[in-house]
This record gives sequence, C-alpha cells and structure tokens, in this order.
Amino acid sequence: DYKLILLFLAAYLIGSFPSALIIGKVFYHKDIRQFGSGNIGTTNAYRVLGPKAGTGVLVMDVLKGTLGASLPLLFQYSDRHLVLLIGLGAVLGHSFSLYIHFHGGKSVATSAGILLAYNPEFFLIAALIFLTIMYLSSMVSLASTLGCTLVLILSFYYQDWVLSTIVAAVTIFVIIRHRSNFRRIKNGTENLVPFGVVYRH
Ligand code: G3P
Repeated sequence: DYKLILLFLAAYLIGSFPSALIIGKVFYHKDIRQFGSGNIGTTNAYRVLGPKAGTGVLVMDVLKGTLGASLPLLFQYSDRHLVLLIGLGAVLGHSFSLYIHFHGGKSVATSAGILLAYNPEFFLIAALIFLTIMYLSSMVSLASTLGCTLVLILSFYYQDWVLSTIVAAVTIFVIIRHRSNFRRIKNGTENLVPFGVVYRH
C-alpha cells in the first residue's frame, strides 16, 4: 500500500525536526552539539540550556512520536498496529534527521511518544519506570536503556506480539545509540542528572 509508505515518510519528516538544535540556536544562540554530551536531545538540552528549554524539547520530541504514530488513525486506518509501525518513521527521523545530514538524538522521548499514541496506560507505566531508575541512579542514560529493557519485559503482559516486537527493536536501537554513555559509565565519568542545573564548562 503506497499510502502507508507516504505516511511512513511523513512520520520520518516529523521526527526529523531537530527540536533541541532549533531551540538552542533560536533562543540561546548555542549549538547544543558543541556542549555537554553533544547529543541533540532532552537531557542535553536541560544540561546545556536549562530546565525551560529542556522541558520544551521533551514535549516536542515526545509529540513528534505521538503525531507520527497517529497518522494512520487520522487517515482512518483501522489496524491499531499501524500506529506502532508508522511511529517508527518518527524515531528514524529523530535519530537520522533529513535536515542535519542524518544526525540526531537517541530517540528515547520520541519512542515514548509512540507508546503514548498506542497505549497511554503503558506509556505512564514506562514513564514511572524511567523516573524511578533515574531517581535511584542519577543517570538518565541508565534510565533510558534499562528502562526500555524493563518496558520490553512488561510488554509481554499485553500478549501483543507486534507491540513486543516493536519495543524489542526500539530497545536494541536505543541501547546502540547509548554506546558513548556506556563507555562513560564504565570509566566512571557519566554525567549525572542535569535537571535544574545549567551545565558550565
Ligand atoms: O535519552 C538520552 C539520554 O539517555 C542520555 O543523554 O545527553 O546524557 O547522552 P546524554
């Protein structure tokens, strides 16, 4: 179905919008790629630009996933699983953005946005798991990677193999995107939660 390919491309274009880079450049005259972890994401936006920008990036990046994933519903497709599949387009866009030479973030917020569109209850559970690990470890990277893994295990409860397959794919992807964080965790140099603190260097 070529219409579905178009929806996937549309989701990719939505996901490609580099919120952290744009907010940094427009409101703070800073290229977020040159500070902190260099990542174009919520965590680094909090770290480099502060809580207002970080919250803005979080909301925008989650909504990119939610909007992309909702496209099949807007176009009256009845198969709910298309929400997950088309949503992946937004995740690919976020991490391999068309507008910045296929660079991008680690896709945690955007992936969560897909879950919000698909199953808000499960999204809230995932958010709670994420916040708990972040609180206990003070590391957003650990909350992201371990959180995805726990969400994958919990997804089996729904006995929805498409959901579990997509969550598994996203989990592997998110873990691969966190390679530099794992290196820092091993060296004992990983950044701790930046929330409320503006990064100075
Ligand atoms: O989702 C990204 C987060 O897990 C880590 O971000 O900037 O510390 O690499 P950062």
